[in-house]
Amino acid sequence: MNDIIKVSNLTHDYGHGRGVFDVSFTVKKGETLGFLGPNGAGKSTTMRHLMGFSSPQSGNVSINGLDCRKSTGRIMEKVGYLPGEVALPDGLNGREFIKMMQGMHKTKNDERTAYLLKKFRLDTDVPVRKMSIGEKRKLAVVTAFMSDPDILLLDEPTSGLDPLMQEVFIDFIKEEKQRGKTILLSSHIFSEVEALCDRIAIIKDGRLVSTVDAQEVRHGLHNIMTVEFKDKDDLLQFCNSGLELSGRDDKHLRCSVKVYDEDINAFISAVKCLKIKGFSEHSVTLEEYFMHFYKKDRATGGVCYA
Ligand SMILES: Nc1ncnc2c1ncn2[C@@H]1O[C@H](COP(=O)(O)OP(=O)(O)O)[C@@H](O)[C@H]1O
Ligand SMILES: [Mg+2]
Repeated sequence: MNDIIKVSNLTHDYGHGRGVFDVSFTVKKGETLGFLGPNGAGKSTTMRHLMGFSSPQSGNVSINGLDCRKSTGRIMEKVGYLPGEVALPDGLNGREFIKMMQGMHKTKNDERTAYLLKKFRLDTDVPVRKMSIGEKRKLAVVTAFMSDPDILLLDEPTSGLDPLMQEVFIDFIKEEKQRGKTILLSSHIFSEVEALCDRIAIIKDGRLVSTVDAQEVRHGLHNIMTVEFKDKDDLLQFCNSGLELSGRDDKHLRCSVKVYDEDINAFISAVKCLKIKGFSEHSVTLEEYFMHFYKKDRATGGVCYA
């Protein structure tokens, strides 16, 4: 069995269209799945079901073949969970909190804990109540990873970290990937998902709208070439050359086409004998690609991803 994390038809309806509805996906051993969606999309709700904190109204969630609700204790031992909102007991300092968590998880890996404290530059003598949001977040990171779990559930892990620490965190997750960890990472930050994930599941309004292979998306991105012509005949000839049009401006004699890697020769042939006044190229980023997809989805109210 290669599927470590399995969410099958998960539904939890909180009323007024809120919640998660018929969500299904899997994360294979050693894979990093990006769970991408705007605020309120249902990312944390799904993760909380995976940690066994909530019961599905229908559907199933399992980790390593164990039902998440029935085997919460065993799941908590196996999984490193970084919650979206960190709530820490005010009366303890960092060291005491770490000790308490080690007791709860019945694990003590001093070497690993020391490595993490150094990496994330955390002073454990500081009382939790005096920690900044970023420091609390770092403490949560250290406690989530200190038992060196094979499965990681990371709910918007870089929120609250400063840009330097975000970079440290992303490098750390790359290391964890190298070490074969299975990771579910929720985020609304495209660059983070792009840097870390093998596959991307997009959730919107509680429903999964698409799951894509990150590598395929990168290969499938196109450039927009905009050409300005000296006369209208050349503009018309170019517009009828068979390239995929993305815009046309007759007043300024401009035309834009989508050019994928394999279309580049066709593009050059199409413009070769025409009188050109100007030319510009624009590469579509993963972010634009997904924004386009979101908008498209909103307009049609359905899944329309090719
Ligand atoms: N316990 C709850 N009771 C009522 N509504 C909830 C509860 N938990 C989540 N929701 C609602 O479900 C939706 C999804 O929330 P959430 O999973 O936190 O989104 P995300 O993590 O993607 O920002 C939101 O509209 C939220 O208000
Ligand atoms: Mg959330």
